[in-house]
Amino acid sequence: MASAKPNRVQLHELSFRPFLTEKEIKDRVTQLGQELAYRVKGGKPSFLVMLRGAFIFAADLIRASGMDGEVSFVRTSSYHGTESEGKVRMHIAPEASAVTGKDVILIEDIVDSGLTMQAFLPELAKLKPNSITLVTLLHKPEAQRVEVDIDLVGFVIPPKFVVGYGLDYDGRGRHLAGIWQLAEDF
Ligand code: IMP
Repeated sequence: MASAKPNRVQLHELSFRPFLTEKEIKDRVTQLGQELAYRVKGGKPSFLVMLRGAFIFAADLIRASGMDGEVSFVRTSSYHGTESEGKVRMHIAPEASAVTGKDVILIEDIVDSGLTMQAFLPELAKLKPNSITLVTLLHKPEAQRVEVDIDLVGFVIPPKFVVGYGLDYDGRGRHLAGIWQLAEDF
């Protein structure tokens, strides 16, 4: 017997409602992968994945691109709770061997205030990549506080907190196949 899909997910004290389905994400990530392969054609791709939120997106995007690039990881933090704090700390720094002279494809889960990318991109540029292509699954332009040069965006979304497909709320919700949006009507 088919069970009805839940229309709410509870994480800690917050309730979230369905926002993007697994199918919508899959279709868009497939397109992004093709677009990326077209842009970086003939280059030396080096995927740099922003932990932790982009790990699921990156796994799907890299496979969708069909590109045989090296993969490495970076971890910064700028976020506690549901609002950006404007401070960025580098927990795992990029390795020069994965960046210098390479066509770096920086994979981010979401550009919100833009402060993380504003702080991180100049650090990456110091390692002298051949090029940087910034791909983000989600972009909240209305929440953006600083200019960021984004090359590819999966979905432009309103400035509401979201979870799922790798994104969390205080450590929870990363496992959700779709993306869920904070429900303010509870
Ligand atoms: P920014 O520095 O404000 O652009 O935020 C970047 C980081 O904040 C992202 O990589 C996420 O880790 C986190 N973040 C921003 N908005 C959300 C959200 O709606 N849900 C979960 N994490 C978010």
